Amino acid sequence: MRKTLRVLASRTLLTASLLFLATSPLQAAPAQAPANKATTTHPPGAAIASAHALATDAGMEMIRQGGNAFDAAVAVSAMLSVVEPISSGVGGGGFFLLHDAKSGKDVFVDARETAPESATPQAYLTPNGELDNDRATNGPWSAGIPGLPAALVHVSGKYGRLPLKTALAPAIRVAREGFAVYPRLERGYASRREVMERYRGTREVFLADGTPPKAGEVLRQPDLARTLELLGEKGFDGFYKGEVAKKLLAAVKEEGGRWRAEELSGYRVKEREPLHFKYRDWSITTAPPPSSGGVAIAQMLQMLSGWDLKSLDEAQRTHLIAESMRRAFRDRTIYLGDPDFVKMPLARLTSADYAAGQRAGIHPSKATPSDLLPGQPAPLEDDETTHFSILDAEGNRVSTTQTVNLLYGSGLVAPGTGVLLNDEMDDFALRPGTPNAFGVMGFEANAPAPGKRMLSSMTPSFIESKDELAILGAPGGSRIITEVLIGILAYDDGLTAQQVAAKPRIHHQWMPDVISAEPDALSPETVKALEAMGHKVNDGERTWGNLQTVSWDKRANTLEGGTDPRNPVGKADVLVK
Ligand code: GLY
Repeated sequence: MRKTLRVLASRTLLTASLLFLATSPLQAAPAQAPANKATTTHPPGAAIASAHALATDAGMEMIRQGGNAFDAAVAVSAMLSVVEPISSGVGGGGFFLLHDAKSGKDVFVDARETAPESATPQAYLTPNGELDNDRATNGPWSAGIPGLPAALVHVSGKYGRLPLKTALAPAIRVAREGFAVYPRLERGYASRREVMERYRGTREVFLADGTPPKAGEVLRQPDLARTLELLGEKGFDGFYKGEVAKKLLAAVKEEGGRWRAEELSGYRVKEREPLHFKYRDWSITTAPPPSSGGVAIAQMLQMLSGWDLKSLDEAQRTHLIAESMRRAFRDRTIYLGDPDFVKMPLARLTSADYAAGQRAGIHPSKATPSDLLPGQPAPLEDDETTHFSILDAEGNRVSTTQTVNLLYGSGLVAPGTGVLLNDEMDDFALRPGTPNAFGVMGFEANAPAPGKRMLSSMTPSFIESKDELAILGAPGGSRIITEVLIGILAYDDGLTAQQVAAKPRIHHQWMPDVISAEPDALSPETVKALEAMGHKVNDGERTWGNLQTVSWDKRANTLEGGTDPRNPVGKADVLVK
């Protein structure tokens, strides 16, 4: 693929950038509009990549039954609820980025959890005004009103072809018959054991045989099977009203929390316009707020479009990528929240002019200390959540990231439902107004309010050029955003889907002011060069993330899936017609 650079900048800022470029060894290439006319109109079959083989297989089962990518997405989601409760589930929420091939339209289905009325900022403070971390991350107060069941009903009913019941059937079967526990579930349980075992409903599921789940053992969830059956039979009302809703309300009450029945029955998914922008030859479609991910990706890529990254050595390239991450994360903290509650300068943040201004402030060979970019540090997020990517033979696409937030969410299973509630409330800035000379407004944009959606980092995305289409996303808290950035840059470098999923990662999130690097991400010489520029580098951190991607090479008309090798139970599969 021919890869030329598109410089996006106003006259004034472009001049500033060019002055800078003239004094730097980094070169800008001439502007050129990307062309996106497909060389082949339809993929040769379907491709699915997800974090668990049973989920990928459930999606393919729908395709074989004549379903489309949207039916497959419902089947994959429901199966992940059963086999990956550590990451996502019907007690949580998520975002679905969809492309409907028939209409040619992209839509973002926002199934983020909402805050119950009881969740005032004061409710999360200890008597001496500190954040009550236990309340924020464990048990009923940490849980938002779940959004995923409503999304399954919505995606199936509006975009799918098969009955919801059919799409839920594989998950119901596995919930009832059981699946083999794998090491990540066992390790995650061990790290959350104290919380999990506080709650009667959780003990009933995870200590059914008297001992915590062990790799290789079979975990059965008959109550969850029944809940999914009710969802399949009654749709929205099967979860948000009636028997299941009553049990959810009772569980929250029994453990000292407060949800109202109307908060469940009033939950609605929202269809939003995705973010669209260009990077080099690629048209990028990604997540709008209440995700911060798409805005950050737009900012970073537009900053980076001022350089020909491929011509740079590893240290220079890493320096520029880290500097773009630093700046995007700073803005994330200051400005972003639920678009239905806060006004955000989105047009400015995602504009080429703004990116050009930020680019002009990046020194070619010196790190900018994060302290010099005023603002309030974002709390570190945890490393869970799940993502899957689907393309079908009609060209329908699904990129969806779903979560219960931290490992096993709140740890609270509502007795008799099998539903493990999320702890997404911790994604709000629960202690707005934390003293900081510059950063108060950042926390206000993401302060909790009744019905409000908490800011997320989930970044389901599509990238498309004339010759190639890729669907990608990842879990990993704030590292989601940089995983997706590195994934997009890897596709731009010409890597295959599997190489993109495997690519070693770096991360910078403004605060703490450090480049995190996976083993093998940076050579020792690069680490030295970055340190000489003033960067702190945590080289050789434990690996992170679980990127799942599929791609379609339109020239060769071939499909490929990429599943993250960091997660041995994931599976990418291709079914050619
Ligand atoms: N709970 C992770 C996220 O939404 O970013």
